[in-house]
Amino acid sequence: MSMQGPRTGDWFARARRSLVNGVSSGFRYLGDEDTIVIDRGEGAYVYDMDGKRYIDYQCAWGPIILGHADPVVTEAVVAAARDGTTFAMTQRREVEAAEAVLAAVKWADRIRFTNTGTEATMHALRLARGWAGRDLVLKFEGHYHGTHDYVLFTTAGAPPAHLGSRLRPIPFQNSSGIPEGIRSYVRTLPFNDTTAVLDYFADYGHQTAAVIIEPAAGNAFGILPEPGFLETVRRLCTETETVLIFDEVKTGFRFALGGAVETFGVVPDIATYAKALGNGFPVAAVALSEEMVDGWRLGGIAQAGTYGGNGISTAAARATLGQLQATDAYARIEKVGLALMEGLARVLVEFGVESQVIGHPSMFSIYLGEGRPTEYRDIAGHDARLYSAVIAGMIHRGVMPCIDAREPWFISAAHTMEDVAQTLEVFSDALVSALELAGSLPSHLDEAD
Ligand SMILES: Cc1ncc(COP(=O)(O)O)c(C=O)c1O
Repeated sequence: MSMQGPRTGDWFARARRSLVNGVSSGFRYLGDEDTIVIDRGEGAYVYDMDGKRYIDYQCAWGPIILGHADPVVTEAVVAAARDGTTFAMTQRREVEAAEAVLAAVKWADRIRFTNTGTEATMHALRLARGWAGRDLVLKFEGHYHGTHDYVLFTTAGAPPAHLGSRLRPIPFQNSSGIPEGIRSYVRTLPFNDTTAVLDYFADYGHQTAAVIIEPAAGNAFGILPEPGFLETVRRLCTETETVLIFDEVKTGFRFALGGAVETFGVVPDIATYAKALGNGFPVAAVALSEEMVDGWRLGGIAQAGTYGGNGISTAAARATLGQLQATDAYARIEKVGLALMEGLARVLVEFGVESQVIGHPSMFSIYLGEGRPTEYRDIAGHDARLYSAVIAGMIHRGVMPCIDAREPWFISAAHTMEDVAQTLEVFSDALVSALELAGSLPSHLDEAD
């Protein structure tokens, strides 16, 4: 059954006549009959072209932290638009927003703004290479850092069976069109595998320019770092003068005002921020420790961007950070997120489904399999068919997490306990339908029905 109502279907057919596959980002295409066209968003809800309301747990894949169309952010953006948005010079709103970012993250000395996470990680890696005078980059399996050439290796989508030995993984290239030579500069390792990291650093530590890591795997079930793992990576980077880059594009301003650095207490040399920084407006930042600042200050390592620090983006960033600071947003997100995680786990136990609800209350996933996943390779044990059947059932019933469990559920400050109650009811109904269809509804529940 199609996910689209009649008007939404017509709109998507229209979209396909102008946009390739009807989308502006490849990940958004879910098929000709299942890609939804959105009319508008407000708070915790989005509305499709048929006027159908969904409780939105995709939150644009992370950016929406206050809720869609937050009035304070909207006002700030409207005011910025009236003043002209882009100049060939530094502007007032850019300075104010930079100060707000530094005050929020606390550990960094200076930042520069970009517009997307991809731009931020691309600049961070070049800065790290230029600073270290080395070429190798280490990243982790299932971690996503955007769409530029150096980081499209072993992201979610790589087949776990083809990743080779844990100690000498084979980087899986996730796209055609990446020059063959790039592969020789990229190494990959399983997340949370301290033995593999120690082994790697013994052999390659002094040749490695940078380690880039999502402190919590925001593109692979929201898996959290095991105790001590980030600390080990930090220590090895320090010992070998390797630049440690935290990709906080998903965790930044979401886990806490100070992001994953505040949550886990480990400080990188560079961090990249985006998503929740602008509550949906395109703004990103590369934050630098004092030691890294000279990399750009002295010149010679290219960084530029016509729209970096533009008035709209930086007005949105400052207003978003202001709201996060001035309200009880994080307390509400935690309360709602924890209630939802616990409720989902309870329903799964009730229906006898082997599973774990894992991650952070603001960004978590449901793993349908045995044991607790700690890294991307564990995806092999996840029942993706059952999961997508359940989520499809939820979307039909007006609740919208991502259809793929690798992409977490996101909670905004606009979600309420009423949304949680409705979501759990819908989840329970959709789970029963999916289990019935798969012939695996526990027999006592079958009879009770
Ligand atoms: C951790 C992480 N880094 C980088 C990116 C790329 O950001 P963008 O899509 O804004 O280019 C993403 C996007 O999802 C991400 O999750």
